[in-house]
Amino acid sequence: MCTEARRHKLADSFIAGLDIGTTSTRAVVGDFNEEDQLEIIGVGVAPSTGLRRGVVLNIEATLSSVSAAIEFAELMSGREIHSCVMGVSGANVECLNSKGVVAVAGKGREITTEDIARVHEAAKAVSIPMDREILHVIPQVYSVDTQKDIRDPLHMMGVRLESEVHIVTTSVTTSQNMAKCVNRAGYKPERRILGCLAASRAVLSDDERDLGCLLLDIGGGTTDLMVFKEGAPWYTAAIPAGGMQVTNDISIMLSVLMDSAERLKREAACCWLESVDVDELIVVPGIGGREPTEIPRRKLCAIVQPRMEEIFLMAKEKLEKAGWYKEIKAGVVLTGGASLMVGASELAQSVFGLPVHLGSPPIIGGLESEYRNPGFATAVGLVLLEADARVAADPSRVQQTTRKDKKSASSLGKVLGWIKDKFI
Ligand SMILES: Nc1ncnc2c1ncn2[C@@H]1O[C@H](COP(=O)(O)OP(=O)(O)OP(=O)(O)O)[C@@H](O)[C@H]1O
Ligand SMILES: [Mg+2]
Repeated sequence: MCTEARRHKLADSFIAGLDIGTTSTRAVVGDFNEEDQLEIIGVGVAPSTGLRRGVVLNIEATLSSVSAAIEFAELMSGREIHSCVMGVSGANVECLNSKGVVAVAGKGREITTEDIARVHEAAKAVSIPMDREILHVIPQVYSVDTQKDIRDPLHMMGVRLESEVHIVTTSVTTSQNMAKCVNRAGYKPERRILGCLAASRAVLSDDERDLGCLLLDIGGGTTDLMVFKEGAPWYTAAIPAGGMQVTNDISIMLSVLMDSAERLKREAACCWLESVDVDELIVVPGIGGREPTEIPRRKLCAIVQPRMEEIFLMAKEKLEKAGWYKEIKAGVVLTGGASLMVGASELAQSVFGLPVHLGSPPIIGGLESEYRNPGFATAVGLVLLEADARVAADPSRVQQTTRKDKKSASSLGKVLGWIKDKFI
């Protein structure tokens, strides 16, 4: 491609990811550089007040938060945003696993892309309530005749093709209201992607996805969980609790305003009592003209730890009930803003009895510090998944969307596989 035509193409190719959360709306802009490598070139964050547990309750407040976040990202990136990839999450997300079977129709019984498309159609033929819609149908594994656990059956020979898929559903009104806010703010939500699926693209390694891991995205209003095994998701759920409950507890127990409680949480809280000295003191601001007081830091920890523990226990209970707990061999990856609470990994480790680490987005060129925070996992993941889809649609593009991030780049093959199968 001549340089001019390439430049023209690149000028059109930037991607905006939009994560509308219960406490913050985040916009991230990624673009392909001259070597066709993705770089993050702008981020924008705005407080969000129109949602409750990931569900829009106030259209006006949500759309002004969307406008503000996108305007910040436009300013930083120097791009004018017209459309975006929108994250969908919230307490209404549900999942089911399904199977489909077809006879191989390809010439000489060789499996073709059409056979694979048909088997996915067959697998997604499930009955769901009128008020819900299918967000994704993600291929997990295939069987060809008697051979099981095949990841990619294309060009294999066989008579019978079976596919197992993970179907993610959401409430129709929830996703319509989110799209309405984005539309009314003046942007087109071109694609909708499950928030924690996007976060998984940004923070999980290939090995974790293959061995079996749990992604726990602890946000402000909800905690989203997704279990991966054999490279694909098998269980998706949401818990209607997150960091806002922790702030609320601090505000009530220490009689401080929510703003002060939030500051105390970020600056002084720790949810692993063992790591806090007995004689460490913190200052609690007074309200209504009262003098600030000093309290032991352990007192604050005794407030936040039970709530964080409750969130982890609820997640564990859900996983045990659904039968997925025993599949988590590679451990737990914590992401989302509330995972930044000091001691969260230690506490999660003791609750789950598994290795735990914090998941932050990798360096993707361009700006490097602005988005390297677990709170940005979803917004950055939205950009990465869209970039993967564009690379899949245009094979001339270099098959690497992330620089200095070999793990994520190597996981591209699987994600591309999903995208080729039109799961989005
Ligand atoms: N350093 C920190 N320590 C403890 N908590 C933190 C820290 N930084 C952010 N948080 C908490 O993270 C939460 C927000 O996380 P995040 O931005 O991922 O949520 P959200 O996407 O807006 O909400 P949701 O995903 O639930 O809709 C808030 O409750 C905030 O108090
Ligand atoms: Mg979130």
